[in-house]
Amino acid sequence: MKTTRVGIIGVGSIALAAHLPSYAARQDVEVVAFADPEVERVSAAAAAFAKETGRPRPCVYGSAEEMLASESLDAVSICTPNTSHVHLALKALDAGVHVLLEKPMATQLDQAQALVDKVTESGKVLMVGMSHRYRDDVAVMKRYVEAGDLGQVYYAKTRILRRRGTPKGWFTDKAVSGGGPLLDIGVHALDVTWWLMGKPEVKSVSGFLYQGIGNDKLDFIQTWKAKAQGNENNEIYTTEDFASAFIRFANGSVLQLEVSWAINGPEDDALQVDLFGAQGGMSLHPLRFYSTAHGVLTSTTPSVGMGPLYQREIDHFLECVHTGAPPCSDVAQGRDVVHMLVAIAASSEQGREITF
Ligand SMILES: NC(=O)c1ccc[n+]([C@@H]2O[C@H](COP(=O)([O-])OP(=O)(O)OC[C@H]3O[C@@H](n4cnc5c(N)ncnc54)[C@H](O)[C@@H]3O)[C@@H](O)[C@H]2O)c1
Repeated sequence: MKTTRVGIIGVGSIALAAHLPSYAARQDVEVVAFADPEVERVSAAAAAFAKETGRPRPCVYGSAEEMLASESLDAVSICTPNTSHVHLALKALDAGVHVLLEKPMATQLDQAQALVDKVTESGKVLMVGMSHRYRDDVAVMKRYVEAGDLGQVYYAKTRILRRRGTPKGWFTDKAVSGGGPLLDIGVHALDVTWWLMGKPEVKSVSGFLYQGIGNDKLDFIQTWKAKAQGNENNEIYTTEDFASAFIRFANGSVLQLEVSWAINGPEDDALQVDLFGAQGGMSLHPLRFYSTAHGVLTSTTPSVGMGPLYQREIDHFLECVHTGAPPCSDVAQGRDVVHMLVAIAASSEQGREITF
């Protein structure tokens, strides 16, 4: 059994919660090294990882450049704040390693295109960490759509509405995150819905971004916390906290999106996707198939949960590394999603619809 030698660039919340345990669950993977400027904290994480798993302690480097120059790696996970993604992915591809890149793949369209070009030139795998695509219940929705059970999907609605769920840390600093909930959670909602619809070509985008609530201080709020130092209490809050979009596709179908970190309305934190087709409809959370049979309306509940999505994501990435197969969430699709995201923000800023 060939061992895949993996490095992790950015050892913060998602690396520790999802990437590291999923790699550790595989006997054919060795997590060789960590690269992160917060060396002290990350060295403690490396020691804890070795103690908990009985695996060798990963070497800790203060930068990705040092790690890539010193270690002979097959692949890296990049789990750093958003605006650093493209730069680090280009470095990793230049060093000849495969890349699993956290979402959003990029915060600007020209950078996303540069990454597409580099992946083509390098021949390496770059998979975007669109983790919701790797859910069991989402895979079931995809099966229904592809089997034609919904007919033509002409309308889709997706949302993640947090009443108060602004992540603590760099996320609200636009210079580091590139944007607010649109890039943080909207990217998941948009990506998975567009993918389920069959990745239709975009015709036009209309968007509305707004900071309606911002950094209000309430008690007893549990929220995601960045491990990276700085902006711990969201002192810098230069992003939107709400975003919505209306996207028309060349095949005549439409997608509507709503996401928030904070909103004065009912909590609706789970990713919701509704697909409406001529023959049937389907909803995620709860998973339902809506149709008709024998002259009556029917609703079916497939008995499938979310499943271990991060493990499935890492397993799929490793399979692509081993076989050279293109990943489900590949770089070109990542670029197309970034195109929609930046167009939503541009439409909001310019107060007009953006035509593709
Ligand atoms: N797929 C998901 O479900 C999911 C969930 C949460 C976060 N994310 C994404 O993961 C990324 C990281 O988010 P997080 O919540 O783990 O943040 P975090 O702040 O907890 O972790 C980021 C880590 O990157 C390090 N870092 C910063 N700049 C670096 C650089 N140039 N080189 C190496 N390391 C660097 C920081 O020190 C920190 O340890 C973000 O892009 C976020 O959107 C994805």
